[in-house]
Amino acid sequence: MRFGHFDDSAREYVITTPKTPFPWINYLGSEGFFGLVSHMGSGYSFYRDARLRRLTRYRYNSVPNEQGGRFFYIEENGDYWTPTFAPVKADLDSFECRHGLGYTRITGSRKGIEAELLYFIPRGHNAEVHQVTVRNKSKEKRSFKLYSFLEFCLWNAHDDATNLQRNLSTGEVEVDGSTIYHKTEYRERRNHFAFYHVNAKVSGFDTDRESFVGMYNHLGEPEAVKSGTSKNTVAHGWAPIASHRLDVTLAPGEEQTFVFVLGYIENPVSEKWEKPGIINKTRAKQMIEAFSKPAQVDAALKDLKEHWTTLLSRYSVASRDDKLNRMVNIWNQYQCVVTFHMSRSTSFFETGIGRGMGFRDSNQDLLGFVHLLPELARERIIDIASTQFPDGSAYHQYQPLTKRGNNDIGSGFNDDPLWLILGAAAYIKETGDYAILDESVPFDNNAENRASLMEHLKRSFDHVLNNIGPHGLPLIGRADWNDCLNLNCFSETPDESYQTTGNRVGRTAESIFIAGMFVYIGPEYAALCERRGDSAEAARARREVASMEKVVLEHGWDGEWFLRAYDFFGNKVGSQENEEGKIFIEPQGFCVMAGIGKSTGQAVQALDAVKERLDTPYGVVLVNPAYSRYHVELGEISSYPPGYKENAGIFCHNNPWIMIAETVVGRPERAFEYYKKITPAYIEEISDLHKMEPYVYSQMIAGKDAAKPGEAKNSWLTGTAAWNFVAVSQHLLGVRPDYDGLIVQPCLPAEVPEFTVSRWCRGTTYIIVVKNSGKGGPPKLVVDGKPVDGHTVPYAAKGKTVKVECTV
Ligand code: BGC
Ligand code: NOJ
Repeated sequence: MRFGHFDDSAREYVITTPKTPFPWINYLGSEGFFGLVSHMGSGYSFYRDARLRRLTRYRYNSVPNEQGGRFFYIEENGDYWTPTFAPVKADLDSFECRHGLGYTRITGSRKGIEAELLYFIPRGHNAEVHQVTVRNKSKEKRSFKLYSFLEFCLWNAHDDATNLQRNLSTGEVEVDGSTIYHKTEYRERRNHFAFYHVNAKVSGFDTDRESFVGMYNHLGEPEAVKSGTSKNTVAHGWAPIASHRLDVTLAPGEEQTFVFVLGYIENPVSEKWEKPGIINKTRAKQMIEAFSKPAQVDAALKDLKEHWTTLLSRYSVASRDDKLNRMVNIWNQYQCVVTFHMSRSTSFFETGIGRGMGFRDSNQDLLGFVHLLPELARERIIDIASTQFPDGSAYHQYQPLTKRGNNDIGSGFNDDPLWLILGAAAYIKETGDYAILDESVPFDNNAENRASLMEHLKRSFDHVLNNIGPHGLPLIGRADWNDCLNLNCFSETPDESYQTTGNRVGRTAESIFIAGMFVYIGPEYAALCERRGDSAEAARARREVASMEKVVLEHGWDGEWFLRAYDFFGNKVGSQENEEGKIFIEPQGFCVMAGIGKSTGQAVQALDAVKERLDTPYGVVLVNPAYSRYHVELGEISSYPPGYKENAGIFCHNNPWIMIAETVVGRPERAFEYYKKITPAYIEEISDLHKMEPYVYSQMIAGKDAAKPGEAKNSWLTGTAAWNFVAVSQHLLGVRPDYDGLIVQPCLPAEVPEFTVSRWCRGTTYIIVVKNSGKGGPPKLVVDGKPVDGHTVPYAAKGKTVKVECTV
């Protein structure tokens, strides 16, 4: 069952009923100011850091779910409603929500009045625009009241939700005509404030929640709205809100448009006050001026759309498969941009008060993003590398506002360092900017202790070699990619964090996954050394990679598939010998991607075992059989009920590793089949089961051992976005940048018989027309009319358009 449809030409998903199985959200903003907005207008806004600079309040995990947002109420002779359906939930005659790239448009109507709400963040502004158009579609003249409503968060979202003994006394506002200023804590150490403005003369306002809503009411029955009045309150403490009231009269067929602006302003400390106690509003007024007319809003929206057109033109495909086209051309890339900005901080599953930017997460996010905005990727790489320690290990996370490593979680995730090499290599392949390797980058943000980025990569590489266990395999540390495989944790105490507890100190638990990563990523390090003229170091790196490959085949092969790990006691994890958790997805994916066992048969065998034991109608589960009880020696993985999350859920992040691995062994059918199983557009028809947005990937889909296989959770912020884009764009469609040219090596089945990829890279456009037999195998390339050996199209001069014909 569907709850809407794709509108590809508008690049929108159109939701046609408010009753989706879960709030289906969108993200606004791509610079400093961000917002989340659901199809019912709920969500919140923040400046840069969802924890420390939260502008509006939202209550997670509430009943009903939609607790906080930018709502508009309409009241006419005692009848009141919200065009977003919630929070009032009065019956609507029509409802439509269009989530587009960086904007959302929600239209609802009731009894002849239609209201269209447009939400977006104009580029170059720290402001959210809410444009409201009301239309009289009836035959009579109509007079009604239009109310805005949002609730301010007292900046620090964590403190705001927990420290009520203080916060209920600190709230402060100023009202100036049609603008409500939120200035809590501005009197002391903050030099920022927020405002909510409307470009019309208001008939009333409220800034105090209790007065507007009523002490025992919910947001669906605000007292002010019900009574058709406003109380013109000025909040002192308690819960500051902003609500404007506009009295509107429309002739039949008439419409009127109002522009509301939620802005964030920082004043230099010396310019904070206009006069004692009154904030300096100069900057706010400039921002208000910029959006005082609908024409300005139209121009800003047009600018936003053009921005996306430019970005998305860098990689696009035209095939006969609409679902493939819309995922590759629009939604997968859009999600990559969102994950790049948000990391894992804020969604309807991530509360924005917990994790900052992940070291491994951000490096992987880069892989799906670097072709879009390489300058931002460059900055990100330097930020990430700055949180590395001198021994090559790294803070697992850092805070976006301070860019400092997060001491609460610390380091010790032994896969982290290698991801930096992968991220940096991807950036260099995309841009050819080798100079980044010479950038001087601090360790642990200590300006006194710094080295070139290249030296950081060396430390990453060596960190693996300096942390080798009894079988010659890399030590796992707290965990590798699988945060929940905690082999030194041994936790028996309920509130201990699996992530940071190491009750046993040992140098025994080893990871075949990190070994696979080392063999996959090590050659990138060697290639960079070579290109910098350090052949000796390149040769050393290659030797180490080759010997790791041998170790994997000797100690990491279980007979039919790759082992997952050795535990603290040296016992096998992910082996025939285990009663549960016999086979894991991660090493099968990464070892085969690295080419381990490709010529000797293990690669195909491992992938066949994946097919047999891990594949399901909804994707490939992480492990099988699921753990049915808690295993203290394995940690969090066995804490989840069978079929969920890392305990045999379909973790969509590593499904693409299997897709890519299938292309390595040349099996296009399987690769594409796995792709279609988890890719949103292909499973739109089962939205009722899947529950999450049908336009973006979710982190997890419940696996075959779960109560409801196929039900997803944790949409949006997941490495799934980047890796699936890598899989489909670089390995299935097969177009990927390399150091000296664009590799064109498609691997798709016969059901995609021909397609054209347009790829902008290093200032040149490559138009690649592919005729595909579906049998895989080496491509034949003709570049600008001349046959070329191999699968690489050499980079051409900037500004050129290169025509490539490819026959598979
Ligand atoms: C989740 C992981 C997550 C980790 C770190 C675990 O509970 O299952 O997916 O990465 O917590 O927050
Ligand atoms: C989510 C985390 O963000 C990611 O870093 C990790 O690899 C997966 N969970 C798997 O545990």
